[in-house]
Amino acid sequence: MSADSHSAAVAPFWLERPTNPNELVAAVWPESAARADDGVLALGGIPATRLREQFGTPLYVLDEDQVRATARRTSDAFRAAAARHGAQARVYYAGKAFLSTEVVRWVTEEGLAVDVCTGGELAVTLAGGAEPAMIGFHGNNKSLAELERAVEIGIGSIIIDSLIEIERLAAIVERRGATQAVLVRVNSGVHAETHDFLATAHEDQKFGFTMTDAPAAVARIRELPGLELIGLHCHIGSQIFGTAGFEESAGRIVELHAQLREGGELPVLNLGGGFGIAYTAADAPTPIEQLASGIVDAVARQCEVRGIPVPTLAFEPGRAIVGRAGVTLYEVGTIKPVALESGDSRLYVSVDGGMSDNPRPALYGAHYSARIASRTSDAEPALARVVGKHCESGDIVVDAEYLPADIAPGDILAVPATGAYGFPLSSNYNYVPRPPVVALRGGEARVIVRGETIDDLLARDTGYAARARVPAGDAPTEGNDMSVSSERSESK
Ligand code: LLP
Repeated sequence: MSADSHSAAVAPFWLERPTNPNELVAAVWPESAARADDGVLALGGIPATRLREQFGTPLYVLDEDQVRATARRTSDAFRAAAARHGAQARVYYAGKAFLSTEVVRWVTEEGLAVDVCTGGELAVTLAGGAEPAMIGFHGNNKSLAELERAVEIGIGSIIIDSLIEIERLAAIVERRGATQAVLVRVNSGVHAETHDFLATAHEDQKFGFTMTDAPAAVARIRELPGLELIGLHCHIGSQIFGTAGFEESAGRIVELHAQLREGGELPVLNLGGGFGIAYTAADAPTPIEQLASGIVDAVARQCEVRGIPVPTLAFEPGRAIVGRAGVTLYEVGTIKPVALESGDSRLYVSVDGGMSDNPRPALYGAHYSARIASRTSDAEPALARVVGKHCESGDIVVDAEYLPADIAPGDILAVPATGAYGFPLSSNYNYVPRPPVVALRGGEARVIVRGETIDDLLARDTGYAARARVPAGDAPTEGNDMSVSSERSESK
């Protein structure tokens, strides 16, 4: 296929044509990713071909060592940055990025606390063995049952998001004779838009209190004996590069912190998460140590100006902990060069998953990269678009990538940097079962979340359950054929 000779004009400006389309760009892969002598990509020392054989495709692969090392490194970076100012820091892993009981175990063993935002995430986090005192609970609409459960287990902190929530929580703690530590979520007015940030006086969004409204919330909490206000919370967005947005926000929030400190103790300041990772070779995220110093130093400067001590700082990275540890393996199916009106050509490469296992390209126009994992190739790079199997033209896995022009059905395609917000955002669109999640450690692979089967999907269909009780012969044969149940995970 000579797709590439005409494709340059349709390539996005940031995508460079690689001299070698087999090369692994270090920043987007787990550190353990390497090609063996036979050209096969190995993750955590295990060849992708073996992973396919054992677990089928699509497959979410999570490098446990990478998650653990990144969790440790991130926590160390913030603690060291705070210690330089005589302060302390605590890192909460934002579970929404990828939550399972195993991941909870890894991050808590590495000393991190966990941030949850629903009763479901709370249940998984507890099931993973996290200490209730090491959990923070977010959300703009926590239900009464969720609040009750959080107080019941003795959760470390609840991040208050509205005046109504203050009264709801106060009633619960009063009835239970409990005391609950809380933070107040504030919009600093700085909202990061991926690679840039906007600052507005009144941010038009659902989370937290405006800077103007926060003092009234704080005053109300201080009137209530069952609620112990420990600090302010602020999160400016996600996939943010550089420190400018965080520093701008820190300046504003420290000013409010200093002001509210006059009315009582305020020992903690939580600055949220949002630290960006590399999805493609064009992304250059700031190393976490530099980011931590930049943010913490900015807070310390602001505190010094106001003559107040640096509070205990808290952070909530999600993507930055798990993103790079994840690789999704797909099998290539159909391939077609599509001639464009402009005279350019684009190679459409279809894989056996898609927007159901990673909706981020469809939801946010997110970019990823990809490599053939089952072999290397000497063929010229061709501009490709990797698409899924869903009945939707926006079902894009990798919008633009140079892949060897001889890519063929049966090749394994690996998409790196899928550890965050892939599995948690997955769906059963078009009744595609969710892939399993396999964790790699010490040269071994094990399933930490099993894949779904067609039976799983039919299990909640009450009409199916009713028909299954109909005497044999009248029941729908296809649905009762158990051979469909393992279709997803059988190696092809
Ligand atoms: N803390 C709070 C209060 C948050 O709302 C979030 C993310 C985080 C921490 C963690 O942010 P991270 O460090 O992972 O960027 N689904 C989107 C991202 C949504 C983030 C929601 N909140 C995506 O796939 O890009």
